[in-house]
Amino acid sequence: MSDEQPGGGPQRDRYSDPWNPAQYERFKNERSQPFYDLLSLVDLPDSVVGTAEEYRAIDLGCGTGELTSALHRALAAQGRSVVTTGLDNSPAMLEQARGHSGGGLSFEQASIADFAGLPADYASLDPGRGAPAAPSSNGKHDSLPYTGNFDLIFSNAALQYIENHPALLAALSARLKPGGQLAVQMPANDSHPAYALAQAIAAEEPFAPALGGYLRKSPVLEPERYSELLARLNFREQHVRLQVYLHSLAEVSELVEWVRGTLLNNYKQRLSPELYELFVALYRERLLAELPDEQPYFFTFRRVLLWGRM
Ligand SMILES: C[S@@+](CC[C@H](N)C(=O)[O-])C[C@H]1O[C@@H](n2cnc3c(N)ncnc32)[C@H](O)[C@@H]1O
Repeated sequence: MSDEQPGGGPQRDRYSDPWNPAQYERFKNERSQPFYDLLSLVDLPDSVVGTAEEYRAIDLGCGTGELTSALHRALAAQGRSVVTTGLDNSPAMLEQARGHSGGGLSFEQASIADFAGLPADYASLDPGRGAPAAPSSNGKHDSLPYTGNFDLIFSNAALQYIENHPALLAALSARLKPGGQLAVQMPANDSHPAYALAQAIAAEEPFAPALGGYLRKSPVLEPERYSELLARLNFREQHVRLQVYLHSLAEVSELVEWVRGTLLNNYKQRLSPELYELFVALYRERLLAELPDEQPYFFTFRRVLLWGRM
């Protein structure tokens, strides 16, 4: 993740919800720019005279809900009746998000794989912590409030937690109405030393045995692959790009705080509190030794933005 977090592995449920909204929000401004870039790719709905049909949108991995609320306001700005659901599997994030509910915006606790209707064995790759809703006999999740298809499936910095993007995108595209849009932003920053270092430490003693060999590796594909996927899934229009965001941090130690809010959650969830503390201390020490001691420290961050219309 980059904005990265759990992705399967033997101990994923041992140390429950790893998200800390306050830690995550420390870099709120830096994280909101990609959201607005993604939003600018979406064709916003006009008010439609003579139709009572609601415009249905869903924000997958909505987090604290602040950006979902901005999305909802933008969608409803032209006067169309819009119903937006923010979906997330973190109770801590949802607790904050629910403060934004109202006026057609609501929040649900569920996993993204469950929403997409992916098969049960696929869900094992999903870091979902809530118990998935049981599918009915027709294989659909009829009991969930987000059945039916959507005008917009939106996801900012969350699908990097789900493996197998060809299957995921196929499943999500099946939940779009004709003419519906898919808009996704995902970090793709594994090549940055801050991300490579976390993997290196996780592969060492005493962490490797405690993690059962788990390493957080991003499932995010090269941008060209998404372009091919959207074409194969019969999206009539598409826009896919890789964008580099530059974050000017006061100093390198701020980078440790950044990754603690995201990437290191993968390891936090799988290690005992004592081992996790050791992991962070080692990570901090080596990162500070490895990266230039500059003020400001220029943190470059690659992200994939993709948009398609059925
Ligand atoms: C990096 S945060 C992004 C939050 C928000 N979209 C934003 O832009 O601020 C990722 C969010 O995805 C959620 N998430 C991760 N895996 C998920 C899954 N499998 N199902 C549902 N939510 C998930 C996390 O709980 C977290 O709130």
